[in-house]
Amino acid sequence: MNSELEPIILDSKPRSQKITGNVIFAASVAVIGSSFQFGYNTGVINAPELIIEQFYNQTYLIRYHKYISATNLKVLWALTVSIFAVGGMFGSFLAGYMANYFGRRKSLLINNLFAIVGVLLMTTSKLAGSYEMIILGRFVIGINCGLNTGLAPLYLTEIAPIEYRGMFGTLNQMGVVTALLLSQILGLPQVLGNSVLWPILFAVPALFGFYQVFGLKFCVDSPSYLFGKGMHENGIEALVWLRGTGDIEEDIQNIRSEQSNNSETFGFVQLIKNRCLFQPLIVAIVMQCSQQLSGINAVFYYSTSIFVAAGVPVVMSTYITVGMGVANVVMTTISVSLIEKVGRRTLHLIGLGGMFFCAVGLVFSLTLGIQWVSAVAVILFVIFFQTGPGSIPWFITAELFDEAARPTAISIAGLVNWTGNFIVGIAYPPLALAIHGYTFIIFAILLFIFFVFTYFKVPETKGKTIHEISLYFDPSAVKS
Ligand SMILES: *[C@@H]1O[C@H](CO)[C@@H](O)[C@H](O)[C@H]1NC(C)=O
Repeated sequence: MNSELEPIILDSKPRSQKITGNVIFAASVAVIGSSFQFGYNTGVINAPELIIEQFYNQTYLIRYHKYISATNLKVLWALTVSIFAVGGMFGSFLAGYMANYFGRRKSLLINNLFAIVGVLLMTTSKLAGSYEMIILGRFVIGINCGLNTGLAPLYLTEIAPIEYRGMFGTLNQMGVVTALLLSQILGLPQVLGNSVLWPILFAVPALFGFYQVFGLKFCVDSPSYLFGKGMHENGIEALVWLRGTGDIEEDIQNIRSEQSNNSETFGFVQLIKNRCLFQPLIVAIVMQCSQQLSGINAVFYYSTSIFVAAGVPVVMSTYITVGMGVANVVMTTISVSLIEKVGRRTLHLIGLGGMFFCAVGLVFSLTLGIQWVSAVAVILFVIFFQTGPGSIPWFITAELFDEAARPTAISIAGLVNWTGNFIVGIAYPPLALAIHGYTFIIFAILLFIFFVFTYFKVPETKGKTIHEISLYFDPSAVKS
């Protein structure tokens, strides 16, 4: 938190910008307060499903003096799981407006109100004997997470030194997968996933919120937001704090070149109607679809039952699922170092291609009943997801647009992403019931389409300034 900290140089190559203690601290505030929130709440309802269903059943019995029907219980549970994504749609759509209106820092701060309300509703639901409170709480924490998926990558990208922008974008995904694994471990019956302690499982996110609320007191807002709003002195102060030096000319030049093209910010309608921004917008939307419609959440939510369907014993299936969570974290860590070396487009292509072959392999192995191949295919599916599709769509969206259009673009991308999340979450169980392992043929076809699109339409953004990227889509904008 102290700007006199010695800058840390991670690479032996000469770099013009350095990673300082301050920028690491600011990143940790965004990652723990936002990325953790999203990952944890995505995974938390997975392990204790049966325990909490029992609570629904008991509550229903006390109220209506009869047991709930199996169908109604499933409907209530599906609602509990998927209403999170409905909240996410609202939140992600609001993210751009909030980021523009209040600034990034204050938006992150305000967002914790949703976290507190959601946590209180879910944690006290057992005490109050009301499952409606869990459902409502999931909706409210969904809003929080939707806002987080927009705000965290935005803030991380904007505070990062240019050479490390990709790495900072990946930090968001690192936080998400770490917290997802944490929720899987805490959700084990031996830890908090039992009939006595499960309300505490829902209280854990309060810790992430407290860290962020107190941490933000010491953090600066995003320099490009401050410059964009004409608060030049605050912008310079913020840059000095983040870079630990008064030598911030390069940053200022970059922010200026982003802003020289557009003096006004773009609203939703303006962005869609703008001819120059139409192509990047389509790229951003398809990238988001490629993440969600790849079928990754079918694996994250239902991997255990996929293994069980393949004939793997239940206990073994649980271990494979946790192993999958570990592979998830490890691969994300590796992709942090790959991202600046190999480039976003290449990694996204490798990821989609690999997932395609895993999906095909999964269909064959499930049909032929070769269990170990199914297990390997699912784990590789997750590894390939984290190679590219897991993190790249989020920050490539941030990189495709300049400061004027970025918040709105991120809102639209977020809405698309959460809608995809909701569709897969709702549609997978009936599909799996009807056509079993063949469901992954649908994902294989989609993955193939996304691969072809990325190959022909997505530019490499590695090491380029936002201005250079916008020239790719609109060469006529070159100024003499
Ligand atoms: C509700 O609980 C009772 C008693 O434990 C159980 O017999 C019944 O199967 C449960 N209902 C559902 C739908 O799980």
